[in-house]
Amino acid sequence: VGYIGEKPADYVILNALKKLEYRGYDSAGISLLTENGNIFTKKEKGKIVNLENLLFQNRKSVFSICGIGHTRWATHGEPSKVNAHPHKDCSGDISVVHNGIIENYSQLKRELTEKGHTFTSNTDTEVIPHILEDCLKETDDILEAVEKTVSKLEGAYALAIILKRKEPVIIGIRKGSPLVMGVGEGEYFLASDIPAFLEYTNNVIFLDDDEIVIINKESFDIYCKGEKTDKKISKIKWDAIQAKKGGYKHYMLKEINEQPEAVKNTILDKVNFSEYSINFEDFDNEIDDFLISASAITITACGTSWHAGLIGKFLIESLTDITVEVDYASELRYRDKIINENSMLIAVSQSGETADTLEVIRRFKRENAKILSICNVLGSSIPRESHYTVYTHAGPEISVASTKAFTTQVTVFLLLALYIARKRGLIEQESFKELIEELKNLPDIVDKTVQSVKNISEVAPVLAKYPNYLYLGRGINYPVALEGALKLKEISYIHAEGYPGGEMKHGPLALIDENFPSVILLPKDSLYDKMFGNLNEIKSRKGTVVLFTSESNNDENLKDYADYIFKIPNCNRFFQPIIYVIPLQLLSYHIADFKGCDIDQPRNLAKSVTVE
Ligand code: M6R
Repeated sequence: VGYIGEKPADYVILNALKKLEYRGYDSAGISLLTENGNIFTKKEKGKIVNLENLLFQNRKSVFSICGIGHTRWATHGEPSKVNAHPHKDCSGDISVVHNGIIENYSQLKRELTEKGHTFTSNTDTEVIPHILEDCLKETDDILEAVEKTVSKLEGAYALAIILKRKEPVIIGIRKGSPLVMGVGEGEYFLASDIPAFLEYTNNVIFLDDDEIVIINKESFDIYCKGEKTDKKISKIKWDAIQAKKGGYKHYMLKEINEQPEAVKNTILDKVNFSEYSINFEDFDNEIDDFLISASAITITACGTSWHAGLIGKFLIESLTDITVEVDYASELRYRDKIINENSMLIAVSQSGETADTLEVIRRFKRENAKILSICNVLGSSIPRESHYTVYTHAGPEISVASTKAFTTQVTVFLLLALYIARKRGLIEQESFKELIEELKNLPDIVDKTVQSVKNISEVAPVLAKYPNYLYLGRGINYPVALEGALKLKEISYIHAEGYPGGEMKHGPLALIDENFPSVILLPKDSLYDKMFGNLNEIKSRKGTVVLFTSESNNDENLKDYADYIFKIPNCNRFFQPIIYVIPLQLLSYHIADFKGCDIDQPRNLAKSVTVE
């Protein structure tokens, strides 16, 4: 984060850092330019509140209207006070915060040490102020010195820099890591994500790779490869209220409860109910022609977005005759694969900044493939590097555990599959109309589900005692089982695995006894009997069962097979993943809450994984 304006910079920067704490939270730091042009720096291990306490308890007042701050997620050097950003040069006249990784830092550090520079941290970042220190000895021109500095860096970076000067100035640079600028009235902000400054302004400039912005109190200039460049100011619709907890104990719970609205926004943006049509704002004839003739599509993503991709495959293959393959971005970026101008990649990402997903996009682009992204964050790197983007419009997702991003991504896949099916003439107008009519009710079904499974909180204390869980689903619900297991691991630190029901006999059944619970998804659909078979296998081995089944399931014997039964609203089979994931999100949430876990910021994780 960087700030220059009329307000007290320490207050604004801490406030902004709190909004970005989801990006990393093992340490935090701040540098402020004082009235007499010195740089005052404080850092602390742990969360931002530790820095805040240090700053306000131990200091005499430092008035400043310009500064930078950082919240860290360690990549090089353990989480500690010395490794926290900002980092300085030898003289202490340059202060730098950095997101990303400087890949050639060992070599740079060796060269700088030979020249007499001394280092205090184990981070890759610290080489940057030292290189800039040398460059500023050769020239007074800030732009020239900064350009020379970054020309020596290999890797990814978003930097905010302040210099010891009477006239305050902040420098922002981006290459491979996100950096946005907020343009307020008489004040400017730099941040790695928009919520940092939404409370102050919704006028945003998205900086591109290799751009350098130099901001002073009155104005700013943006340069690219030495030339001044004009950038468009975008107005962001999310307001600051949306990005606050709004009375909920955690962002995760708020975001689970926002799903009816989020899914509604996703649908309303793309479906015209009076004309019975689906439209994607960004689409043109070229992509339509492509989708009409494509024989295969590759989907790539990470984590929860990858699970949405698996459901995307199911939906596209069910409704069209296109073959879909889904690959983890971290695998696909290094795997041999034939890619050419006939290939199409769908990249799925909430943040739009996931490094592996971005690299796959770049690889496919080099081979002239078409890139379509499904993304939540407007103007983030993934949409900017894609040929076409469908935005989910879920609103800001702050909690590290992804919830409403998932349900809206699946909604987009459903709309996309229907759109392609219609374009290829694979679905009759009448059936299409019926599905569109049903879609109208989807937000209400989502709402009904959120309300009807609130009682999951009552069983959480009992369920929190088990150290392991198995999640089982079949067909379209198999990825939901994977997602449920990921949610539980991620926020409650309980080991959980997702499996397709049919795989039980091939190994996992060996785990089952009274101490090993299974979470089973048993909607009343064509796979009901198969899944019931799994339930039987588990119960006959005395396994504990948490069962989610359709509201309409009146089987009196169910209670002989399951220890905990939750009824889920009936819905179209294509809507099932959106509905069945909700109780799993709530189950994880309440177990984690009962265990007293740090739900919104689970240990070792960050919201946007902008490094490999
Ligand atoms: O922003 P993205 O959707 O690209 O993020 C992908 C994953 O990092 C993310 O889904 C992660 O798995 C979540 N923490 C899961 O809740």
